Amino acid sequence: MSIYVIGVTGASGAPYAERLLAALLRAGHSVKLVISAAGERVMAIESGLELRGSLHEKERQWKAFLDIPSGTGELELLANDNYAASIASGSYRTQGMVIVPCSMGTLGRIANGVSSSLIERAADVMLKERRHLILVPREMPLSRIHLRNMLAVTEAGGEVLPAMPGFYHRPQSVDDLVNMVVGRILDRLGLENALMKQWRGEAKPVELDE
Ligand SMILES: Cc1cc2nc3c(=O)[nH]c(=O)nc-3n(C[C@H](O)[C@H](O)[C@H](O)COP(=O)(O)O)c2cc1C
Repeated sequence: MSIYVIGVTGASGAPYAERLLAALLRAGHSVKLVISAAGERVMAIESGLELRGSLHEKERQWKAFLDIPSGTGELELLANDNYAASIASGSYRTQGMVIVPCSMGTLGRIANGVSSSLIERAADVMLKERRHLILVPREMPLSRIHLRNMLAVTEAGGEVLPAMPGFYHRPQSVDDLVNMVVGRILDRLGLENALMKQWRGEAKPVELDE
């Protein structure tokens, strides 16, 4: 099984993080999870997950929140100021990193090589080691600075996958919209998933009996 790094920052979109973590763990992968202070704040507002206490206690709260059956992948929560963590070094092999949701602040710092937190350092490692780095920003409208930073990350080998669900599958619920974005993230990591149906062309019109 593979190891993935997941960063959660202070943009809107906590349900995307929750769904991606659950999908990776249920598939048996190991996850190194880091959440920024603003990410914790937005998680509490949007998902009701109020992280409290030591790192160890917060890890337990995440596991209970995700409600993953035992025997699945391992979740390890790392502190965002722990520059001595495994994922701060390129010598520690992982299959890639997703920052979901990704604030424009974090995206801008990564685009400019500023590693002022473990999330940003781990992202910098992904770029230098030529591993998957997927940033899932959410902002509207986008300023010139945001657009320039997204281009810089893309030119450095990262992928910008904005939280922009489509409507061509006729979503019936918020869950469907979340699944569409998370399904695309898993696709980009090369992981099979049933969260999003592939588009196989427009359905043929139904022939009516005469
Ligand atoms: C409820 C809430 C929603 C927010 N939504 C966004 C957002 O969608 N996009 C964004 O870039 N920042 C958003 N922010 C602002 C970021 O949290 C803020 O810029 C923060 O400094 C980001 O820090 P981080 O990158 O370390 O997580 C939001 C903040 C709050 C409290």
